[in-house]
Amino acid sequence: MPLPKGFLAESLGRIQPSPTIAMTSKARELKAAGRDVIGLAAGEPDFDTPDNIKEAAIRAIQAGHTKYTAVEGIPELRAAIAAKFKRENHLDYKPAQTFVAPGGKTIIYNALLATLNPGDEVIVPAPYWVSYPDIALLGGGKPVVIETTLEHGFRLTPEALDKAITPKTKWLIFNQPSNPTGACYTRDQLKALTDVLMKHPHVWVLTDDMYEHLVYGGFKFTTILEVEPGLTERTLTMNGVSKAYAMTGWRIGYCAGPEDLIKAMAKLQSQSATNATSISQWAAVEALNGPQDFIPKFQKIFEERRDLVVSMLNQATGIECPKPEGAFYVYPSIRKLIGKKTHAGKVIATDGDFANALLETTGVAVVHGAAFGLSPFFRISYATSNKLLEEACQRIQRFTASLS
Ligand SMILES: Cc1ncc(COP(=O)(O)O)c(C=O)c1O
Repeated sequence: MPLPKGFLAESLGRIQPSPTIAMTSKARELKAAGRDVIGLAAGEPDFDTPDNIKEAAIRAIQAGHTKYTAVEGIPELRAAIAAKFKRENHLDYKPAQTFVAPGGKTIIYNALLATLNPGDEVIVPAPYWVSYPDIALLGGGKPVVIETTLEHGFRLTPEALDKAITPKTKWLIFNQPSNPTGACYTRDQLKALTDVLMKHPHVWVLTDDMYEHLVYGGFKFTTILEVEPGLTERTLTMNGVSKAYAMTGWRIGYCAGPEDLIKAMAKLQSQSATNATSISQWAAVEALNGPQDFIPKFQKIFEERRDLVVSMLNQATGIECPKPEGAFYVYPSIRKLIGKKTHAGKVIATDGDFANALLETTGVAVVHGAAFGLSPFFRISYATSNKLLEEACQRIQRFTASLS
């Protein structure tokens, strides 16, 4: 039976289901139906969570750490987060300025829902991680999208940022290494942006550093506050264990920022999730405080995969694939393929048509650029084996060569 008219919240009508999750589900369904599908849509490492972290979780269960925790997170994890920010980012945060939520996504959700009023503007450089504009919309805010270009390495330029700021701007959401492009910023590139932000004291920055540890070719990650401490009073530095420690299912995200903002986020979370899972929090303590030696191993594997995918995609007719410095995504352009026809006679008018035809014809699942706010591109997640990546890229090469 359909739901009664007007039953669903109007705010729900403003957003769409996550397109990356939708594509991953579609690929899973086709696979279940017996199709030979290679899924390159999901944004999670294919590695297993390291054993020392799993063991810490088992110990937590056995020690009875199975009750509600403080809304903001257990003191041990907040201390580990403050220590991580000091050790890796040279930032001085007290544990009271840190906060833990069920996943990095919930950190962003709490920050925006706790601060947005109707009409508040949230600057989101495109291509963006799919959830930013929708979370802003859920909070009654207005996403202001700045399109970047392949020519600028998909980086936000200081001129474009300056132009987008209005008296109503509340937040800039800034993400590097980027999902979906893998783009990173050097210190100088960051300084050019923070110089603009210093001219506009009403603008807050949410920096999403989720892929901090996944950088390649000797690239050195720098977070915004290392470059411009003058922004400390209006910056929320967000991170998590999902990607770097292969812990997507454990649901732990964290952040640090001005204490009053942290308190507001805690107020909101006290009336929703209450706290991140107690057991996962203990696992995250081990992730942050324990040995970090598998990170360079992950990095090496991802770097090889990046190089393989970039090289093979650039050999595909009509595809132009820049080589990013980080994350585990590439964001190739298909501008030369727009207007071409598939064997079945379908015209590729958009990147959505491209992704659908690619899936139907070859069984390779990718996510179309429109989902991330910049067309005509597509995103490949290379967090899978070299063998599957090679096979997928060969299929893409054959598919693009077959277009007329
Ligand atoms: C840029 C970015 N930020 C945040 C998240 C959310 O991470 P989590 O799984 O911890 O909620 C993701 C996950 O895909 C992401 O890509």
